[in-house]
Order: sequence, then structure tokens, then C-alpha cells
Amino acid sequence: MEFESSRSFARRLDKQDSLSPFRTRFAIPEPDLVYLDGNSLGRQAFASAERLQRLTEEWGRDLVRGFNQDWWQAPGRVGEKIARLLGAGPGQIVACDTVSVNLFKLSAAALTLDPRRTKIVTDTLNFPSDLYILQGLVRMLGDRHTIVRIGSKNGEVTPDLDALEAAIDKDTALITLSHVTFKSGYLYDMAAITELAHRRGALVLWDLSHSAGAVPVALDACNADFAIGCTYKYLNGGPGSPAFLYVCKNLQEQVASPIWGWWGQKEPFAFGLDYVPAPGITRFLTGTQPIVSLLAMEAALDPLLEAGMDALRTKSLQLSEYLINLTEEFLAPLGFSLGTPRIRERRGSHVSLRHPEGYRINRALIEEMKVIPDFREPDNLRLGLTPLYTTFGEIWEGIDRIRRTVTEKRYEKYPTQRLTVT
Ligand SMILES: Cc1ncc(COP(=O)(O)O)c(C=O)c1O
Repeated sequence: MEFESSRSFARRLDKQDSLSPFRTRFAIPEPDLVYLDGNSLGRQAFASAERLQRLTEEWGRDLVRGFNQDWWQAPGRVGEKIARLLGAGPGQIVACDTVSVNLFKLSAAALTLDPRRTKIVTDTLNFPSDLYILQGLVRMLGDRHTIVRIGSKNGEVTPDLDALEAAIDKDTALITLSHVTFKSGYLYDMAAITELAHRRGALVLWDLSHSAGAVPVALDACNADFAIGCTYKYLNGGPGSPAFLYVCKNLQEQVASPIWGWWGQKEPFAFGLDYVPAPGITRFLTGTQPIVSLLAMEAALDPLLEAGMDALRTKSLQLSEYLINLTEEFLAPLGFSLGTPRIRERRGSHVSLRHPEGYRINRALIEEMKVIPDFREPDNLRLGLTPLYTTFGEIWEGIDRIRRTVTEKRYEKYPTQRLTVT
């Protein structure tokens, strides 16, 4: 990529950006706010706000009749839309519950398939909640399973792939990893890892929370077994919007959810006293879903589908490359280092910049510099790049304000004591 460090170059890149019209589809009430946290909570799509407005009318007017209009079918219908972003054919994804709950359901299902295999392989770069869920599940199953956590290299930026390969053996039941790791943004090679696992008779469950809407995913083509992910990040679903889960077609009839709720029953309104699983992916539903959130999220998916994952990936890589180039020029001399893979093929859609004062710099940026990144221990200033609405100008501004925060020592007045949400 051609690179110049001037502000006018950023403007030129924005003029050439074919995705720039999508920014107008989002609420941006403060144009000078540099929002680099779409990897935590995406911006609000106008389509979601409009859907919520209509939904309040439907709710008031239609009352419970709404379920027979389009509410009851929403988990499956929204799942089909998400499937188009993740390279999954029909009937394999439902939108429901939270990532944590879906991980519990699918890993429990996976572990029943071959009870002789008792090893679960994951890594230390995984989102800690995923590890907690696995630990709780192992306890619940009577401590018959062991969890092996593969370590990392290059200062916790990349996983130790040799250790991963060595750990997958004839005892391994399940490998579960974040496709894009939450801190460093390392992007696993889904096809290669899945193929390796299958060669050794193990199943794979991918956490796509930092991938969905951020990088192209080809679940079917990679022969993935299971996947989960959230919708409030790059899918812009809104605070607390429900997650999704994927079970590949050929496993669906062999596995069961450990939570036998009525939404996963074959005939929920027959109200039979014994559970019979619904055919296909529906059996992984549990109980009543957060319809308001679900429908708001459904509307937010349209801009992504219109833009297409290939164009989004192209821009995402241009944004991260540009950000890294600016960092090398302006921030490296101030003590920042890159906490994200330099190789583009292994990069998701966020960039972590490491600095010993990362926490206080993050605080100062939010409190007084109108920049919103986030902070992940011990020293990562995490910058999320959402190709639908992040501009090159915003990145130039963001880097310049980070530079000023440090050179003007603005961060020094903030305590090192952490706020609840960082
Ligand atoms: C990679 C990853 N997995 C799991 C979770 C947990 O998601 P939830 O709170 O919806 O259970 C998160 C939350 O940010 C995440 O980033």
C-alpha cells in the first residue's frame, strides 16, 4: 500500500473508498468523536432504530399476536442472514442466547459424541469467559476431561502452533479457539486447523465473536463442526444483542443440546410432558428469546450483506495497514509497540498498540481527547476498525490525538486504578 503520513493523504484515501457511502447508514451524532471500539460495541444502524420504532408500535398494537407474525421465527430467520456472512448453507445457524451459553451448549454436545476422548484443547489467547465455561462444564461432567491450554509466542501476540499441533492426539475430543483472538487480533487459519483436527479424529468449535462481519469466514468450505459468536461487535446488533450458533448439517441429528427447552422441542405448542428434540438446528434453541434485541439486530445486518465480506476485508486491511504505518512513524518513538501480527493474512480487524502507560493513555483519550478505543491488560490499547464506517481520516485523527496525549503528558493526571469497564 502506498503511504504518506499527511492528513491530506487520509482525505484522499477516503475519497477513493468505495464503501464510504455506508457511513451515512449509521448514527454519528458527534462527527469529531473518533470511535475505534466497534469491536466491543458497533455503532447504531439507522435501520435498527427504525425497526425498534416500528416494533414498539407492533408490540403495543399486536400484543401476543406478534409471535405469530414474525417474532417466533426470528432466531432461524436471523440465523440465515448471519449464515450468508459466514459461508454457511441454510439450516445451520440460529441466533439465540449469549456466546457463553452457546459455548456451553455446543461443547457439551461435542463431548458426548465420543466419550472415550477426554481432552479439550484451547489456548491462552482465548477469551477468558470461554475458558471459564469449559472449566465449569468439565466440573459438571465429573472431572473426567482435561483442558490443555496452548501458550503463545512473540509477547502473547501469536499462538504456539507447534504446541497446538502436538497437543491434538487420539484422546482429543474437542479443539476450541477464538478464530480472531480478542487481544492481539491474531487470525487463525480455520481451514488448516480444522483439517488437522479432523485427521486426528477431533472436532472443532470456533468462536467467531471477533470475526463475524470483520473477516471472511467459510464455515462450510472449511468443514467446521461447530461455531458461536456475538452480534454486538462488527454485526452492530446493539448492546446485549443475542449471539448465534452453528452446527454443521451432518452432525445435527447426532448431537443434543444439554438444555432441553421448549423452543428446541419438536412441537412446543403440543405441550407434551416429555422432550423430543426438534429436527435440525432448531433443537439448539432453549427458551423465549430477546425479541426486541433480535429484531433490532436483524435490521443491522443488511448493510453488511450489501457491502459483501470481500470488499469489507479489503478495506479492513487497508485501514489496519494505514494505522500500523502511522504508528510506526508517530507512536513508536513514544514507546508504543505493535501487539498485533504485522503479516496481513494473520490479522483480524483490530490493532493493539502496547505501551507501559496504556491504561492511563486510554483513560485520557476517552475523558478529554474524544477518542474511544479500549484497554486490555496488561498494556494493550485496542483499536477496532469497522470498514462500514471507520474512515482513514478518523484513523489519522486518532493517531494524532494519541501522540498529543503522550507528548503533552495528559495521561499523567489519571489514576492507574482500573474502572469497572476498561
Ligand atoms: C471472543 C469472545 N468470546 C466470548 C465472549 C463472551 O460473550 P457473551 O458475553 O455474549 O457471553 C466475548 C465477549 O466480548 C468475546 O469477545
